[in-house]
Amino acid sequence: MSELLEPRPDADGRHGEHTPEHQMKTYFDEPSLDYEVTETLIDDGVREELLQIAARYPQPRSALLPMLHLVQSVEGRVTPAGIEACADLLGLSTADVSGVATFYTMYKRKPVGKYHVGVCTTALCAVLGGDEVFSRLQSHLGVGNDETTDDGMVTLEHLECNAACDMAPVMMVNWEFFDRTTPQRACEVVDALRAGDEVTPTRGARVVSWQQAERVLAGFPDGRADEGPTSGPTSRLGLRIAAENGWSAPDPADFRSDQDEETS
Ligand code: FES
Repeated sequence: MSELLEPRPDADGRHGEHTPEHQMKTYFDEPSLDYEVTETLIDDGVREELLQIAARYPQPRSALLPMLHLVQSVEGRVTPAGIEACADLLGLSTADVSGVATFYTMYKRKPVGKYHVGVCTTALCAVLGGDEVFSRLQSHLGVGNDETTDDGMVTLEHLECNAACDMAPVMMVNWEFFDRTTPQRACEVVDALRAGDEVTPTRGARVVSWQQAERVLAGFPDGRADEGPTSGPTSRLGLRIAAENGWSAPDPADFRSDQDEETS
């Protein structure tokens, strides 16, 4: 485990000794759902929207993932009431739904800040500066991994590969990409978010609140889908080289006849 990822900095911004109690918690070290939560915002209107999601799929249980995103958009995390609503509407057990909700790291068991800031610390991003970005953000925000600033604005989390390795090191805010970021740029972004300024990623749409973004992931568009570039120059490099050289992909029909000859 990288030294830069742990532990939480103290009040002076120093990082403590590597004792077990200081080691960075991971998603899977978290307790299961917080069953102390009894209040819920899931009402008849939300249940109706959950049913709308389920109706999009031939097998209603296939709708569970977007339904959980809708629960998060309403509750700010996955709650026992959200689990029960999904289970009830899909005819599943709460254990089935809970098993899904606690397996995938995009489903949160405690409240997320207005903005979820994730820094990729998988190998390529880590060596190209991701560890440094994450460490600087920890000190700058005064929080450890998977913790939220006192003002409730930013939850910081280290992420595994975001499939954007050609843009390493990558930071995401509510799943929008900030490519080839630097410690300074990352701090500027979180400062702007906390100040309420409009923030635009290097790829993707204008940043909105985490709960609004969760509603989009549930399948309720908010009109931002076509904002901003969707790919970067390094991702398109092969395409450019092919165009310059007049190369094109083989015709699938030719490929099939070659295979037929080999097997005949
Ligand atoms: S290693 Fe960071 S995006 Fe792949």
